[in-house]
Amino acid sequence: MGIVRVTEEENVLSGIRDIVVMGDPGCSGLDGNASRVYGTLLGTPGDIFIVNGDIVRMGTEEEYSEFSRFTGCATAKPVYCSRGNHDMRDYDRFFGLHNYIILSGAFAAAVLDTASRVFEPKALDFLGAMLDKHRDKRFIVLFHIPPKNELTGRGIADEEWAKLKRVMDPHMGRIDCVITGHIHAYYQYELDGYRIFISGGAGAELDEVGSPEARVFHALKIAVRDGKPSGVDVVKA
Ligand SMILES: [Fe+2]
Repeated sequence: MGIVRVTEEENVLSGIRDIVVMGDPGCSGLDGNASRVYGTLLGTPGDIFIVNGDIVRMGTEEEYSEFSRFTGCATAKPVYCSRGNHDMRDYDRFFGLHNYIILSGAFAAAVLDTASRVFEPKALDFLGAMLDKHRDKRFIVLFHIPPKNELTGRGIADEEWAKLKRVMDPHMGRIDCVITGHIHAYYQYELDGYRIFISGGAGAELDEVGSPEARVFHALKIAVRDGKPSGVDVVKA
């Protein structure tokens, strides 16, 4: 199946047990080592994939065509995407909506756009509406650029995180974790009571971050059991 062009805000899938999330496969070009890593990670057993931004370097039609072709050859499973700061220009034509949700049983994965390093009111309103509507579900929230972290000084501004928190806080007990990318490394931390992952190790050159354990090509595998997220594993490439 490969790349899914998202046309509906709410996407109901059945029988999802394992979701593989990865970030930043192509922002330093999808050639050489990047294609080896990304291709290997697409071989991870799972029911769906989410590529959490920085799919390609410039966002051109040629790059997205090549990325789509490569992805379609590497997996028969559906591959959803989110928009990173490199994903400009022709993104919509290949991947569709910027803010959407995947629903399966009591599990929900909300995908938000942070390509411009801010949460647009549209994205915040959408997340708030989905959290209100699907009160029986446990959520994972995904977007590209992380909030402040000790791994690097890079992330969205504190006021952007505050805007998101205002939407999430009334539902905090149902939000299992937040998954981001942008920094080409692996890191897990807690911020204001939220468990946050930085997972930007799907192929782009790894960043010079402090700890050697963080410098790893990887994806995250989320187990959904009894319709709920039940664990997150790091899959190395
Ligand atoms: Fe990147």
